[in-house]
Amino acid sequence: MPDERTTAELKALVDQLTERGNLDDDGILALMLSEDPDANDYLAAKAREVREKYYGKDVYIRGLIEFTNYCRNNCYYCGIRRDNKNIERYRLSEEQILSCTDSGYELGFRTFVLQGGEDPYYNDDRMVSIVKSIKEKHPDCAITLSIGERSFDSYERLYKAGADRYLLRHETADKAHYESLHPEEMSYDNRIRCLLDLRRIGYQIGCGMMVGSPGQKPEHLLKDLRFIQMFTPEMVGIGPFVPHHDTRYADCEPGTAELTVRLLSLIRLLNPMVLLPATTALGTVDAFGREKGLAAGANVVMPNLSPTDVRDKYLLYDNKICTGDEAAECVRCLSLRVSKAGYQIVTSRGDHFTRQNTNQ
Ligand code: SAM
Ligand code: FES
Repeated sequence: MPDERTTAELKALVDQLTERGNLDDDGILALMLSEDPDANDYLAAKAREVREKYYGKDVYIRGLIEFTNYCRNNCYYCGIRRDNKNIERYRLSEEQILSCTDSGYELGFRTFVLQGGEDPYYNDDRMVSIVKSIKEKHPDCAITLSIGERSFDSYERLYKAGADRYLLRHETADKAHYESLHPEEMSYDNRIRCLLDLRRIGYQIGCGMMVGSPGQKPEHLLKDLRFIQMFTPEMVGIGPFVPHHDTRYADCEPGTAELTVRLLSLIRLLNPMVLLPATTALGTVDAFGREKGLAAGANVVMPNLSPTDVRDKYLLYDNKICTGDEAAECVRCLSLRVSKAGYQIVTSRGDHFTRQNTNQ
């Protein structure tokens, strides 16, 4: 249903959202779906103002290490899901992971994100050993894990070993939509259980969703925004859905950079202090997607520190950018992009603004 609001009315909604940090559902939907360039620029400008109020011009970097593309799950949208027999699988040894963190440390990184499929090879003992080794060598660094759904006990062991943060996108806050994107053996309730466990244990948490995932309606995104407001994560990771040729969604349209950018602004205005990455997926659907994200309220970038020979094997979706560059090259390129956008990369851990990290 096209919204008939004028530019002035849309801008008034942006003002209301900025002042109150909230807006009713109709207002949020009108801004989310707005195709009015002036109003959209205004939304991005206000989100930028709020982001600069709390974080100035600083952009935090997180070094991403994609350490396994084995996965026991079968998310229908994902290029590395279990049933995709057309990819070459890899695992990094503890030694290889440490070599990534060592070179990342030299490049200035103070946060490492260990991401992978749900790979049973990395049981608690192996993960504990990896986390402890990184912390021993680099006690001033934060470790973020993004390794999917595990038990409370497992999350707790990893936290006690030194992991500080955990990224687990909720993917969609609509249960029926969640079920349409995942096989029966996966459940929305378990995803949420994991997020609640992680919060209870003391992790700084990131949730988030894909934008434009198959079957997604504006009402689903509204639910996502309300879920994020209610859950108050320290970080929110969103990026456009991008099709992968070996999935049932190969012929689906990708999510757009424009909608993703508007959502970044809405998330910033609804959750002023949140850490908000301009993601690789956003840079994949639009060559300047990450710059647009930064100009619309994002304040984190995540350069890839994985060894170059495995980069193109961690293919969640087609045409993923930065699969050929050395880590140092990725950092140089991103730093340049960030400074051209008027911001500066900072090398501190960049903890969430209000919460004290008690796990150092
Ligand atoms: N296994 C962990 C998990 O489930 O949280 C971490 C890895 S998983 C590949 C990381 C994220 O990639 C998912 O949360 C999902 O949102 C995103 N992703 C997967 N397939 C994608 C696609 N086709 N387009 C965009 N993002 C995708
Ligand atoms: Fe497991 Fe994508 S299905 S990481």
